[in-house]
Amino acid sequence: MRKKVTVVGGGFVGSTTAQRIVDAELADVVLTDVLEGVPAGKALDMIESTPISGADSKALGISTAGGNYTATAGSDVVVITAGFPRKPGMSRDDLLRANYDVIKQVVEQIVKNSPNCILIMVTNPLDAMAQAAYRLSRFPKQRVIGMAGVLDSARMSSFVAAELGVSVENVHSFVLGGHGDDMVPLPRYSTVAGIPLPDLLPKDKIDAIVDRTRKGGAEIVNLLKTGSAYYAPSAAVTQMVEAILKDKKKILPCAAYLEGEYGIKGLFVGVPCKLGAAGIEQIIQIKLTDEENAALQKSAAAVKELVGVLNV
Ligand code: 2OP
Repeated sequence: MRKKVTVVGGGFVGSTTAQRIVDAELADVVLTDVLEGVPAGKALDMIESTPISGADSKALGISTAGGNYTATAGSDVVVITAGFPRKPGMSRDDLLRANYDVIKQVVEQIVKNSPNCILIMVTNPLDAMAQAAYRLSRFPKQRVIGMAGVLDSARMSSFVAAELGVSVENVHSFVLGGHGDDMVPLPRYSTVAGIPLPDLLPKDKIDAIVDRTRKGGAEIVNLLKTGSAYYAPSAAVTQMVEAILKDKKKILPCAAYLEGEYGIKGLFVGVPCKLGAAGIEQIIQIKLTDEENAALQKSAAAVKELVGVLNV
């Protein structure tokens, strides 16, 4: 039997994620939104594309306006993208309270209908929303994962590949920390065909890539004017879903609940995680220089501040 994935939120991130999962035939997908008609229309459109893509996965779109989540029951993975998007000039953190209210309702329903699922949080501010979902769901920490490290690393890799004129397949970038302006791209651990980035690019070029990576989300928001990025975010979620559903034991940077790792306790922060059928199966700890560690602690402090506001 095919696996089942629910994607909550039928906006650009949610619907593109659903489409990628269907196209890759990873699972049958239920796409939900509070709007009437939109999720059903998008899912139907996806299904009508499958004779061309050759994917036999099914897509179902439902409105949860009435609070009915029964169609999502028994999902293996639930991706939560629902929430208000960032507008130009708005920080991810401005979204905090508004999106917490959204998450609260959604998580209650998901827990009721899919008590054994793995939750992937995408709604911003990402790390704080992951922490909120963890507390609200009371799931074990292995089953609540925040998305953004894969996205931030992909952004950095795309900039590195463009700068060096090499295949994106050669580049592995490494970004730790929260999904905010204080995220921690680590050039020393970023490689091109196994060669550390500092051996290939001068410091000023690396600094520019680091800075652009940190502001990657805002760069897209400013260009789009209404709404935020969705191609790279949905690709990032799909890679995580694939790692879980295929039990790949793949090491990906994800927001995970830390209990002392990297000297951080009781907080969701982006770190390298092994993703498999059980969710986060291991947190990989790497050695950081004093400077890198200070940057990670600063990023964690920014997450802690948000989490403190929500009291989660
Ligand atoms: C991004 O980084 C908006 O957080 C989202 O694109």
